[in-house]
Amino acid sequence: MDAIDTFPDATTRDAIASAWGLSPRAQFNPLGNGLINRTLCVRDGGRERVLQRLNVEVFRSPDRVMRNCHAVTAHLGRERAAGRYAYSVLELLPTLGGAPALVLPDASWWRMYAYLPDTCTHDTVSEPAMAREAGRGFGAFARALDGLPADSVGEVIPAFHDPDARYAAFERARAGDRVGRATGCIAECEAAAAYAEIVAAWQRLTLPRRIVHNDCKLNNILFDAQGHAACVIDLDTVMPGSLLFDFGDLVRTLVNPVAEDSIELDRIQVRRDLFAALAAGYVEGCGSVLSAIERANLVLGARLITGVMALRFLTDHLDGDRYFRIERPQHNLERARNQLTLFAALGDAADELQALVPAEPDRARA
Ligand SMILES: Nc1ncnc2c1ncn2[C@@H]1O[C@H](COP(=O)(O)OP(=O)(O)O)[C@@H](O)[C@H]1O
Ligand SMILES: [Mg+2]
Repeated sequence: MDAIDTFPDATTRDAIASAWGLSPRAQFNPLGNGLINRTLCVRDGGRERVLQRLNVEVFRSPDRVMRNCHAVTAHLGRERAAGRYAYSVLELLPTLGGAPALVLPDASWWRMYAYLPDTCTHDTVSEPAMAREAGRGFGAFARALDGLPADSVGEVIPAFHDPDARYAAFERARAGDRVGRATGCIAECEAAAAYAEIVAAWQRLTLPRRIVHNDCKLNNILFDAQGHAACVIDLDTVMPGSLLFDFGDLVRTLVNPVAEDSIELDRIQVRRDLFAALAAGYVEGCGSVLSAIERANLVLGARLITGVMALRFLTDHLDGDRYFRIERPQHNLERARNQLTLFAALGDAADELQALVPAEPDRARA
């Protein structure tokens, strides 16, 4: 349990303890397996809290991230109090001085959330019931944010899921070929070129611009002991965008039976039962907030984001592995192949999948 003793260091712990009024006996333990921030559970006496060090390499404007988190959690809290949102809401715990976060002299940013006891996250799903719960939870989240004006939450990462920008970056990397890998992945680059087609379909759409989660993965929703979705977490990327990417990322991460870097390409498939359960839950959670154009393009959203991920992995491979952490030499190319295979499977099944998306529960109000 080395990490407990070394992170955060003693000076940082003292600063955190005095900022939040913790006793010298407070214990810091790693929590969860998130890849972006560093998350710890702080146990002090009988009380537990969630401490996070923000990743300021990824989030270049941490003050804006904190303002967004505050705006979103405050809004969700009001929705819950009014009986319009049935899920728990992350509760930001300000410092004793009333600041939303603690900024230390080494420029690190720390914030505290109330700990939700008896909850857990899942990295994979095998049961339709869990897919449905995740869909309903994230759908209800989108519905609850419908009343929050799009300009009350700022953009924290520009062009985050922008298909055009991602495609342009891929083309630049292929043409630049800075590490001489382009001839070794011609087939993958040709397959990725098929993405241009759906980018064009995307450009033709006029979709509502909403405040969305932007990192809708299964492990960003807490489940309770009964297996019910309890609380949407990881709110740092909440910003204006399209709901299609939220639903799409859920599909991308739930329906594939293998991990996104698996080389077992022949095992990749779209598990229809999980897709149907996820879509049913999402439509139910969104309720009347889901517009007809969004509903009709939910599967396009899944194809768009899966293609975006394929492009990003392939771009990074062509660029010499500068962004995604790799554990083996061809890792990014393997990830790209995996996501291209899923992208193709989603394309083949698109009509069939879209037919599995239920009609809005309350059609009279659509
Ligand atoms: N309020 C909370 N109560 C209980 N556990 C939490 C809470 N917030 C986060 N966690 C745990 O910490 C993990 C990482 O948190 P998350 O905000 O998703 O960070 P990251 O950006 O690194 O993914 C989660 O997967 C979950 O296990
Ligand atoms: Mg997370």
